Amino acid sequence: MDSILVRGGGPLSGEIPISGAKNTCLKLMGAALLTDEPLTLTNVPRLSDIGTLATLLASLGVEVARLQEGVVMVLSARQLTSHTAEYDIVRKLRASFNVLGPLLAREGRAIVSLPGGCAIGARKVDLHLMALEAMGASVELREGYVHATAPGGRLKGAEIAFPFVSVGATENALTAATLAEGTTVIRNAAREPDTVDLARCLSEMGARIAGAGTSTITVEGVDRLHGTTHAVIPDRIELGTYMTLPGICGGEVECLGGRRDLVDAFASKLEQAGLLVVETSRGLKVARDGERVRAVDVKTAPFPGFPTDLQAQMMAMMCTADGTAVLEETIFENRFMHAPELIRMGAQVDVQGGHATVRGVGRLKGAPVMATDLRASISLILAGLAAQGETRVARVYHLDRGYEQVVAKLRGVGADIERVSDNG
Ligand code: EPZ
Repeated sequence: MDSILVRGGGPLSGEIPISGAKNTCLKLMGAALLTDEPLTLTNVPRLSDIGTLATLLASLGVEVARLQEGVVMVLSARQLTSHTAEYDIVRKLRASFNVLGPLLAREGRAIVSLPGGCAIGARKVDLHLMALEAMGASVELREGYVHATAPGGRLKGAEIAFPFVSVGATENALTAATLAEGTTVIRNAAREPDTVDLARCLSEMGARIAGAGTSTITVEGVDRLHGTTHAVIPDRIELGTYMTLPGICGGEVECLGGRRDLVDAFASKLEQAGLLVVETSRGLKVARDGERVRAVDVKTAPFPGFPTDLQAQMMAMMCTADGTAVLEETIFENRFMHAPELIRMGAQVDVQGGHATVRGVGRLKGAPVMATDLRASISLILAGLAAQGETRVARVYHLDRGYEQVVAKLRGVGADIERVSDNG
């Protein structure tokens, strides 16, 4: 296993290119199952999660070609050879569960392993199954697998009302609805940019979708979809992560490819904390205009609210803010695992249920810490960039899932950071 060594230093300045969005790309890859024609994706991030899903799709019979050093991916689901998404892949990548909708829509049947929980929460899939059953699917749970079939081989359009917003369930329902017979209306749908980009790609493939980006999405089912070439949108979570750098270390960072509309609620919080956020012709530039950022309260919510995937990064910034901040996590039940690790670095964080109270201190101190999940791991690196001394973040395989070339990108703005192998 590898670790990352970070030595705290002064302000960071320069440019960071933002890669394609991991979570969007994973769902776009699943959309390839909906057609027997090639789907070409560009601006694909080189991340382990992407490779894992490519392996799963290949096990179903999809030909997956990576071109231009992996930035371009051509997926051809001409002839599927299996309808089963095996546990040993799905357990590594929960997002694999989103092959269920497209597989069922294309083939009329699908067997997909239940993803199980993960470090940040139970991660149930009951809303995914409720939506597909509303569309006529018969769903049976057997030995850890979902066995789904569409009567007569085709799903039927339906009214689906989610009791609360689920990104994954919205996207499974949306993809399944594109080939259903009749009209599907999805209420309380996710409004995330990821979902909007998925809908845009599906429309380019011939789907008939209205309302993406609003809480009500309407889909007129069609008989078949065709291939297309689609560019993955920039990763808003990577973008937000690097936007915190001036708040933590000082300096000025320009995130190339960044767009304000992808991170508006988050950017507004950075501005409340005292950072300057400027749209440039190349992306988003962020700078700190004073000595320390101010403490600001945060409550996570579905888009367009403050993203849960940026909560840990915000906590890292609040650790050395001027004042006391309260961070409320409303999406996942266990998403403060970075707190004990930040406390090892001298942070003053008190977690009570879904609330974390962060009392800003002058400076953190480097320490050996442990990455527990994808976003927690990056928050520890952010904290280490301004801490006194050296921070060693272990289990950085979590990082490889969602942050492309993180060491190179941070070195590019002057960070003292390196990746080392743990076995000598
Ligand atoms: C997506 O997960 C993202 N992952 C997550 O990013 C992100 O944190 C999350 O959306 C919220 O924005 C991908 O897109 C691959 P949800 P998803 O369904 O779809 C509960 C990262 O760091 N729920 O919106 O699984 C669920 O347990 C990852 O990149 C049910 O109870 O999230 C959670 O508490 C982490 N039943 C809440 O709803 C269901 O059927 C929101 O989950 C579905 C979800």
